[in-house]
Amino acid sequence: MTMATPAGWPCEAIWEAVAPRLPGFTVEVVPELDSTNTELMRRARQGITDPVLLLAEQQTAGRGRLGRRWLSAPQGPGHDGHALTFSLGMCLDPADWSGLSLAIGLKLAQCLHPEITLKWPNDLWWQQRKLAGILIETSAAGAGRTGRFVVVGVGINLTTPCAEGLTTRPVGLRELRADALATITLLDVVPALTQTLLDFEAHGFAPCQAAFNARDALHHLPVTLSDGLHGVAEGVDATGALRVRTTSGLQRVTSAEVSVRVCG
Ligand code: BTN
Repeated sequence: MTMATPAGWPCEAIWEAVAPRLPGFTVEVVPELDSTNTELMRRARQGITDPVLLLAEQQTAGRGRLGRRWLSAPQGPGHDGHALTFSLGMCLDPADWSGLSLAIGLKLAQCLHPEITLKWPNDLWWQQRKLAGILIETSAAGAGRTGRFVVVGVGINLTTPCAEGLTTRPVGLRELRADALATITLLDVVPALTQTLLDFEAHGFAPCQAAFNARDALHHLPVTLSDGLHGVAEGVDATGALRVRTTSGLQRVTSAEVSVRVCG
């Protein structure tokens, strides 16, 4: 195990929970990085694809989906946690990759609070405000490994950030759970997300479909997609595709490059 440099993080407990299921797993906590996703993708390009949790107490160039930036104030025990930003990396070889980010979003929501909803494909919302986001990237698995190296980047607001410049109003977990700590939250979610990755590799998204739809933030709402499609959202199918009822019938939206906006 790689021990944490900054004190106070439950690295050993996380390692003990995960390593038996994921041999070679390490836990790494650093005070500052440009982005935990960028760092794991850099390492993967150098052939380093061992399973890892990488947490940075502060990111200077956090990235979101669709080329957006992910801004967060310093986090962690020393700063009493404004946000939690980490990435999980491991090699995975599922028969079908579709729906992975939805499965991760669902597990995160289940770990955090019963009232959290999921805005396709993988934003976590509470009362139409954004609580957390997920950025999934992949790279070659490296010599002697099958599948691909997947990097699952997770950003969770603990306190409510400033809404300036954001299209969706943000919310912090402490508005739902006043006592939410970065350390405990990390310990709750990392073993669960790791197990979700392993389950996904074995069974795909289909077993998650009903639970995702039960938390669907877009359920029966009129939506507009960035590619111009309009319609009413009707949940996801067994592959995680968003079903949109349009004037010309039911369309399946699969592209991660498409953003969805609730109309009106
Ligand atoms: C989104 O909502 O668009 C996704 C946000 C993902 C942010 C996390 S924070 C940890 C990891 N490192 C990054 O640079 N991004 C992800």
